[in-house]
Amino acid sequence: MSVILGIESSCDETSAAICADGHILSNVIANQTIHEAYGGVVPELASRVHQQNIVPAVQQALLNANVSKNDVDAVAFTRGPGLLGSLLVGVSFAKAFALAKNIPLIEVNHMQAHVLAHFIGDHKPSFPFLCLTVSGGHTQIVLVKDYFDMQVIGQTLDDAAGEAMDKTSKILGLPYPGGPLIDKYARLGNPDVYRFPEPQIPGLDFSFSGLKTAILYFIRDHVAGDPDFIQKNLNDICASVEKRIATILLNKLERAAKEYGIKDIALAGGVSANTGLRQGLVALCQRNGWESFIPKMEYCTDNAAMIAIAGYYKYLKGDFAGQNIAPLARMPF
Ligand code: KG4
Ligand code: ZN
Repeated sequence: MSVILGIESSCDETSAAICADGHILSNVIANQTIHEAYGGVVPELASRVHQQNIVPAVQQALLNANVSKNDVDAVAFTRGPGLLGSLLVGVSFAKAFALAKNIPLIEVNHMQAHVLAHFIGDHKPSFPFLCLTVSGGHTQIVLVKDYFDMQVIGQTLDDAAGEAMDKTSKILGLPYPGGPLIDKYARLGNPDVYRFPEPQIPGLDFSFSGLKTAILYFIRDHVAGDPDFIQKNLNDICASVEKRIATILLNKLERAAKEYGIKDIALAGGVSANTGLRQGLVALCQRNGWESFIPKMEYCTDNAAMIAIAGYYKYLKGDFAGQNIAPLARMPF
C-alpha cells in the first residue's frame, strides 16, 4: 500500500490530494478570489494566500481521505513551471513534511501532471497517445510515449489558448478568469454569427495573438457605432469566439493525429473544461474512429490529484528528489 500526499501551488489554486495505490481518495482545492479585483493573478498576493491556505488544505485532504499524516508514504509537489513565489510555498511545505515524517520527496512537472490526470479513474489511454494541453499559460500538443516520456510536437508561438479566452473576456468587460464565463454565455449563443480569422501558422504550432487583436478591433469598431453592442450580442460573440478557438485547436490536433498515426486522443489543462472544446473533440474522434479522453472537470483545472497520481508513478520507480531541490518558473519536460 502506498499513500501519496500531492501538493499543487503553481498559480492561484492551493490544492492538496491523497492518492492510495493509484486511487484518488481526496482532492481539496482552495481557490483564490482576491485576484478578481485586479483582472488577473497578482503573483505576490498569490504566494501570500498560498501560505494561509496550504496547512488547512492538507488537513482537509487527510480528513476527507480518512488518512492520518503518519500513514503518508511520500510527498509529491509541483516543482514548476509556475509563479516562483507560489511554487516556493508548496515546495517548502512538501520539504518540511517529508523531513518531519522521514519520507521521500517527489518532484512533479505541472504540465506532465495535467497529462497524467488521465490515469485517475478507469478510462485510461494507451501509449502512445496525443494530449492537447491547454491552460492559462500553455498550449501544447504532447506525444505521450510513456508516463514520463513526453514530447511537445506543437505549441503556441505567443499567447496560450486560456490567455486568449481571458483576454477576450477582458475586452468584453467580464471579470477574471473569463474562460468559464465565455463558456457560460456561449451556451446561449449562435457560434456562426461572427467569423473571426483562423491564423495560418505552419506545422503543428499555434498563434493566438492575431485573433486577440482581431477581436479587439471588431469590438472597438462595433461599440463605436452602438455603445450597447456587447450587451446586446454577448452570447453570440462568446459562442463565435469559443468556436474559433476550439476550431484552431482541434484542426491542429487532427493534423497531428494523422501525421503520427495515433488513435487515442486526450485533452488536458484548464481550457479542457470548455464545453465547446470537449464536444468538438468527441465529434472529431467519432468522425475518425479515434477514442477521446477527457478528464473529469475537477481534474481539468489546476488540482493536486494530478500531482499525486504523477507522484504515484514516480514512487513506483523510486524516483525521489533531495532536500536541496528548488522550484523552477520554467521547466521543460
Ligand atoms: O490549467 P489551469 O487551471 O491553470 C494554468 O495552469 O494556467 O488553466 C486556467 C485557464 C484560464 O485561462 C481559464 O480561463 C481557463 O483555463 N478555463 C476555461 C474554462 N475553465 C477554465 N476556458 C474556457 N472554458 C472554460 N470552461
Ligand atoms: Zn495548469
